[in-house]
Amino acid sequence: MLWLLVIHIAAVLFWCASLLYLPALIAGTSAGRTHIDPTPKRHDSAARFVFTHIATPAALLAIVAGSVVFLLNRTTDGWLIAKLTLVSGLVIAHSLIGLLVMRAEEEEGKRVVPWCWVLAISVCVLTLAIVWTVLAKPVLEITSWAG
Ligand code: HEM
Repeated sequence: MLWLLVIHIAAVLFWCASLLYLPALIAGTSAGRTHIDPTPKRHDSAARFVFTHIATPAALLAIVAGSVVFLLNRTTDGWLIAKLTLVSGLVIAHSLIGLLVMRAEEEEGKRVVPWCWVLAISVCVLTLAIVWTVLAKPVLEITSWAG
């Protein structure tokens, strides 16, 4: 089971690192301040490559490995419910960054930099909150809907 947790944490590191890198890459590319992708081609930008070949596969692996650990552990504590609620926020940020990749590929001049800041800060806050929740495991009373 330990190797599953190691795969989970390694995938999480790739996922969060790429979600933090992408807003910087998109902002740098749209401001022409990066040599990585001076002229991003539609449907073929460096940001799209990072999103489709690193961020998304890492997200899927993190979620699958975490779900298997969850099923094997049968953990239903309040902190895990709180953690998974925060993780769904990270999944929404992931999707919005995907939209930002497409928007940045469209013709020049599309205002993406403010959204890069909003999403980078959101990913930072969510990642720190998730890691704190899973390491501190706060005792949270979750009222069961079954009464
Ligand atoms: C749907 C997605 C996820 C599921 C189902 C999931 C599930 C789990 C489970 C069941 C554990 C074992 C907890 C324990 O019993 O100690 C775990 C550990 C961990 N998870 Fe996740 N997780 C998910 C996403 C994430 C994300 C997005 C992060 C970070 C941003 C993360 C960070 C961690 C860390 C750091 C540990 C190790 C905790 C420890 O060693 O005590 N997980 N995860």
